[in-house]
Amino acid sequence: MSTLSEILHFYAEAGVDTPLDEAPIDRFSQVDTKRAPTQPVPAAARSTVAPSPVAAKSAPEAAGPAPSTLSKASVPDDAKIAMARQMAASANTLEELREQLAAFDGCNLKFTAKNLVFADGNPQAAIMFIGEAPGREEDLEGVPFIGRSGQLLDRMFAAIGLDRQSVYIANTIPWRPPGNRTPTPLETEICRPFFERQIELANPKLLVALGGPAAKALTNATEGILRLRGNWKTHLTVSGNQIPVMPTLHPAYLLRNSAQKRFAWRDFVNIKLRLRALTD
Ligand code: URA
Repeated sequence: MSTLSEILHFYAEAGVDTPLDEAPIDRFSQVDTKRAPTQPVPAAARSTVAPSPVAAKSAPEAAGPAPSTLSKASVPDDAKIAMARQMAASANTLEELREQLAAFDGCNLKFTAKNLVFADGNPQAAIMFIGEAPGREEDLEGVPFIGRSGQLLDRMFAAIGLDRQSVYIANTIPWRPPGNRTPTPLETEICRPFFERQIELANPKLLVALGGPAAKALTNATEGILRLRGNWKTHLTVSGNQIPVMPTLHPAYLLRNSAQKRFAWRDFVNIKLRLRALTD
């Protein structure tokens, strides 16, 4: 018979270290799929979400939200997304964006995460890598990609002459989902204005989407990552700039499927060539 500590150890190893609620919640049923954008839309076209009292506020007002008002469960999802847009748009630098994210209470993941995981590397880099969401180690340190998959990513950078001083790294979701579960579509839409603004402010020449969720979030593609990878796509920024995106396999997937590393290698060679052509 297992002791309590053995059971707890088993849960911790499995990534289940955050008890949440007595009853399960189907968060996938909470997203309004009619509202989830299927195409990148420029800023001018983004007023399709009904203006809420929150959205109607001016940028300076939005810059100083009352966090407690958004943390209430009764706040409609549209108001959370509208607030995220206001707060993200009000940031004129990456540091201001980090501050806005830290003050934003509209994403439930913030309340189970230990730290905000904003970015690592060089914000002036010509290339930006975007993952899905932080894991346990990232959550503890507040730095993206520092666990086992991050160590593999560092080796992949080195293979094409890059390192953390020559790349900028972020995630679509800046808080760890409990137990490393996949972020829900609603969580992604709530965080979208922030990662889109982060890309816009960093203004890289190339983007690399690590894994299917990041590739879909950046390009609005619907195919799986095994079809998407290796083919250049485009990310349309809120202000209408087009940035080439290479979707590739997530390092965590490569750790479990090492036979697939050859495909990631091809993608990285492709990335290296395009980066060289853009920066030489
Ligand atoms: N996986 C991700 O997608 N992001 C991280 O930061 C770590 C692991």
